Amino acid sequence: MVSNPRLNRLLQRKEIKELVDVPLPKGSRIYLVGGYIRDFLLRRKSHDIDLAIEGDFDQIFSRFKKRISGKVVNYATFQTGTIVTDRLRLDFARTRKESYPTPGALPKVVPADIYEDLRRRDFTINAMAVRLKPPPLTFIDPYNGYQDLKRGWIRILHEESFRDDPTRIFRAYRYARRFSFAIEPETKSLIKRDLHFITRLTPERIINELDLIAEEKEWYRIIRDLKNISIYRLIADRPLIRRGRGVTERKLFLHAHLKLNILENGPITVSQLKSAKEIKRVERIVAELKRIKKRSACYRTLSRLEPTTIEMIKELYPELKTKIRQFKRDVLLKPLITGSDLLNLGLKPSPLFRRILDRIRVLQVDRKIRSKKEAMQLIGQWISS
Ligand code: CTP
Repeated sequence: MVSNPRLNRLLQRKEIKELVDVPLPKGSRIYLVGGYIRDFLLRRKSHDIDLAIEGDFDQIFSRFKKRISGKVVNYATFQTGTIVTDRLRLDFARTRKESYPTPGALPKVVPADIYEDLRRRDFTINAMAVRLKPPPLTFIDPYNGYQDLKRGWIRILHEESFRDDPTRIFRAYRYARRFSFAIEPETKSLIKRDLHFITRLTPERIINELDLIAEEKEWYRIIRDLKNISIYRLIADRPLIRRGRGVTERKLFLHAHLKLNILENGPITVSQLKSAKEIKRVERIVAELKRIKKRSACYRTLSRLEPTTIEMIKELYPELKTKIRQFKRDVLLKPLITGSDLLNLGLKPSPLFRRILDRIRVLQVDRKIRSKKEAMQLIGQWISS
């Protein structure tokens, strides 16, 4: 047990105060666990609260139900329950121990104490708890999660972690990008060792992980990280779409693409994944970009894309990086001439304006002309011929 000076600030949070105020049967213990504490210590907002309960689950959960107004979902057989209020989601679970009958399978669960409960978790930064009741607030951090949080490490708790639950491989990269953390070297080498356990996961569990990734701000970097560890060859031929055909790297690419361009709000659904027209468009553009050499041709092609799509292509196709870098520089080039220069030449506004400006821009991007004077001379020649 460690004392943490920031801990008392938890009680200044309305939602935590409310939880602490619920009267509970004698001998019961309530802990905050997982992401909420991690986010609190990182000074990040979190609307999901995970609570672990040591004691008679049904009795304790019904006390919370009475005191906290919200929609209740109670899966009593699993000794878990959820209350959704207008601001928060509260997940309650009996402290438990898990065992994995075979790699990748869902675990067998039996009641246990908080230490066992933390031991079954994925990463040290998710394996911290704060005892809310009985008082005083107590920080429980058997795996030094707080230290890892400070040094920015994603670290598993034991050697068999990825074998027990291969979805943790996806999760490691997701958290690493979300918090700009590093995957601790030993953990990284265990990912390599145990990567093949990914093939034991059901398609639903993989889809779930991809959907979670698609909700992340840095999703395309995560998609690229997973590509770099060659995960896709393990899942590409599997039926990863609930209905219809299997997912290939191309669809994963699109999974990502759709997230940015179609779906600003919310997770990707199967029907959106099937937006074949959009897949084809981006694929065509990527193929074209690989082929073309002329700087102005790349400029024109890339101008047709959203900035976010360009970022994604840059991450997923390293061979196009130089062209994209050039494009970004070219976009910033100040136009050598404008419409008013043409008016000054005595030209009347017409569609010809656009054509002239475009032609000048192409020459400028290809570094064939560099000054306004050169541009004006050329236009003079075009007009007189
Ligand atoms: N967990 C785990 N292994 C998994 C999934 C979850 O050990 N494969 C544990 C972690 O301790 C995690 C907690 O269950 O903190 C809750 O899971 P989840 O809601 O997925 O994660 P959060 O920590 O709440 O993080 P996020 O912000 O991504 O929701």
